[in-house]
Amino acid sequence: DHGNRARLLAANEAAREFFVEHLTAADAEPGRRFLGERGFDPTAAARFGVGFAPKSFDALRTHLKGRGFSEEELVTAGLLSQGDRNVYDRFRGRLIWPIRDVTGATIGFGARKLLDDDNGPKYLNTPETPVYHKSQVLYGIDLARRDISKDKRVVIVEGYTDVMACHLAGVTTAVATCGTSFGVDHIKVLRPMLGDSRGSDVSAAGEVVFTFDPDEAGQRAASRAFAEEQRFAAQTFVAVAPDNLDPCDLRLNRGDDAVRRLVEGKRPMFEFMIKRTLAGHDLETVEGRVAALRASAPVVAGIRDVSMTSGYVRQLAGWLGVDPPDVQSAVDAAR
Ligand code: GTP
Ligand code: MN
Ligand code: MN
Ligand code: MN
Ligand code: MN
Repeated sequence: DHGNRARLLAANEAAREFFVEHLTAADAEPGRRFLGERGFDPTAAARFGVGFAPKSFDALRTHLKGRGFSEEELVTAGLLSQGDRNVYDRFRGRLIWPIRDVTGATIGFGARKLLDDDNGPKYLNTPETPVYHKSQVLYGIDLARRDISKDKRVVIVEGYTDVMACHLAGVTTAVATCGTSFGVDHIKVLRPMLGDSRGSDVSAAGEVVFTFDPDEAGQRAASRAFAEEQRFAAQTFVAVAPDNLDPCDLRLNRGDDAVRRLVEGKRPMFEFMIKRTLAGHDLETVEGRVAALRASAPVVAGIRDVSMTSGYVRQLAGWLGVDPPDVQSAVDAAR
């Protein structure tokens, strides 16, 4: 109901202010060091509302109870965790990013561990709540939505620091999923902004550019996105940075220009997926080319937009140096 929702948003907003204030406290030094080492000065931290959760089981609980919030509300908001005997602060000793909806309302948080000896995962998020649905949230959507609608393009990156780096480098259409892979619910959020009202009219649709870490997890994300992309009429691209760099590291090591060039150097998703299957084969030998064809044909066969299939059959034939009809036969066999 509306009353409950407004209270949960108010609790999140009060928590956000609390975390921001604590970024300047003495015990937030590891947080400030992390930001500095990633190339984010205090102005940048403030622009994205980055804060710090003190290493305490009850600092936030005490503060928000003093502001009139009940423990029940704070548990529902995901700010407190329910233990066997009591409730306690969910985020402790972590750097905090406020996650907002398209209207700019804070609906939850992403939190990074700072010391290796701390317990818990590297990143911790708000759990599912009446206002936070992880399958739908996109970090940075409040900052990016205007430019996504204007440019008809969205850049999907992996992490909070990558969103910050992109925006600071001038790529102001960047957003990130929060502790989950990109899926159909994210597409529903983005579709109207990209002008993709019907979901089938390719000419009316915008562009989606995925950047993935070149590590294995990033590549798995690419495979999942490949499947999801096919429900999406927007043109889909992949941008992979050189030398195992994500956008945050890229900006840090090579500067803002390199981040912009990364996005400009995007390749079509299908090309990326097909070339990835070719990469493991020796195309200098007949045996290698046959194996490569067998491995890549299912990718082409999986393209649901038939208007693109024949183009990729010819592309693949060119990359392999074999005749297009041979590729077509392999694709047909893979169906
Ligand atoms: P840092 O830049 O040092 O934080 O690490 P990284 O660039 O290697 O981050 P990584 O690529 O591992 O993670 C990118 C994003 O994936 C993060 O911003 C999180 O949203 C998510 N993520 C990574 N590790 C975890 C985890 O342990 N739990 C959850 N829920 N999400 C994670
Ligand atoms: Mn809801
Ligand atoms: Mn990674
Ligand atoms: Mn990364
Ligand atoms: Mn990183």
